[in-house]
Amino acid sequence: MAGTASAVAPESYISKIWPQGIFENRVVFCTGGSGDICSSQVRALVYLGANACIVGRNEGKAERVAASIAKARPDAKVLGIGNIDVRKVESLEAAVSKCVSTLGGIDFVIAGAAGNFLVPLINLSTNAFKSVIDIDLMGSWNTAKAVMPYLLNSAAKYPGAGGRILFISATLHYTGGPLNTHGVVAKAGVDALSAQLAIELGPRGITSNVIAPGVVDGTEGERRLFQDARGEMMGKVPTGRLGTVKDVNNATVYLLSETGDFVNGSVQVVDGAAWRIGAQVGAGAEYPASVLVERKATKL
Ligand code: HXC
Repeated sequence: MAGTASAVAPESYISKIWPQGIFENRVVFCTGGSGDICSSQVRALVYLGANACIVGRNEGKAERVAASIAKARPDAKVLGIGNIDVRKVESLEAAVSKCVSTLGGIDFVIAGAAGNFLVPLINLSTNAFKSVIDIDLMGSWNTAKAVMPYLLNSAAKYPGAGGRILFISATLHYTGGPLNTHGVVAKAGVDALSAQLAIELGPRGITSNVIAPGVVDGTEGERRLFQDARGEMMGKVPTGRLGTVKDVNNATVYLLSETGDFVNGSVQVVDGAAWRIGAQVGAGAEYPASVLVERKATKL
């Protein structure tokens, strides 16, 4: 439990323009829900009226984060389920069942579980490549598969306002770049999967979209992938700053609320136009210093 820690200030994670209560009686199911980006997305949805179930691999973390999110709104119900590996569809199905039996259904899904690290392709083992494909791509598929009956129910129950799935992707695969072959290939697959769901399930009332964040300040992705390139990166973003979780959350609410009713099969990039000028790790000519050391060592 989060103990006596106070609620996170709403102004740090959501804009005031969204009325509270817009997600009343809705339930969001989120993989990767203990992570920095997805937990904040869920916090914003809960603040605006939803109940939620977050799943993750670490049991204690999922429960702690759920308890913290629950403080976003009085009477919020937030379930944190640990020991869930998105690579195992049975494990996801069990979490989905628990979510539905506890909270009454699933209206929105955020498929956000991801794994990543930087490594030159020549040193990337087959198992390492497969691990990231399994977590990011197969995990997204497994999530979509496990929630599909409930999303169909929601779309029928709330026409134009339920049955929505959102995938958290990236921008690296728009240009490609070294050191992240596994992530680039996996995220390209995630985008394609979302588009297919939009096409095949659109007639059943479901929307499927992608959010592609750039570098989001203060998150694990930033620490893992951008490390010592942070300052340099900030200078390159056309909008002049790194992204925030609030930026991603506002896009999330846009896509999941009434405003997103006709937005289907889209990719919402939230990166301050960074990818357009190649301001991603490996996409330009410059590499983070930590990688240059590795480059010398491997004589690439
Ligand atoms: C090279 C590595 C490695 C590294 C792991 N491996 N880390 N290879 N460099 N830094 C290799 C291992 O040696 C092994 O291959 C294989 O990957 C599997 O590793 P395991 O540790 O056994 O797998 P697992 O425990 O399942 O871990 C999965 C993981 C790990 C992806 C490797 O990093 C993880 O759990 N990450 C979850 C959290 C995370 O990454 N969050 C970042 C999200 S940010 P061998 O051959 O030795 O068996 C993000 C932003 C995306 O995703 C933006 C761009 C796409």
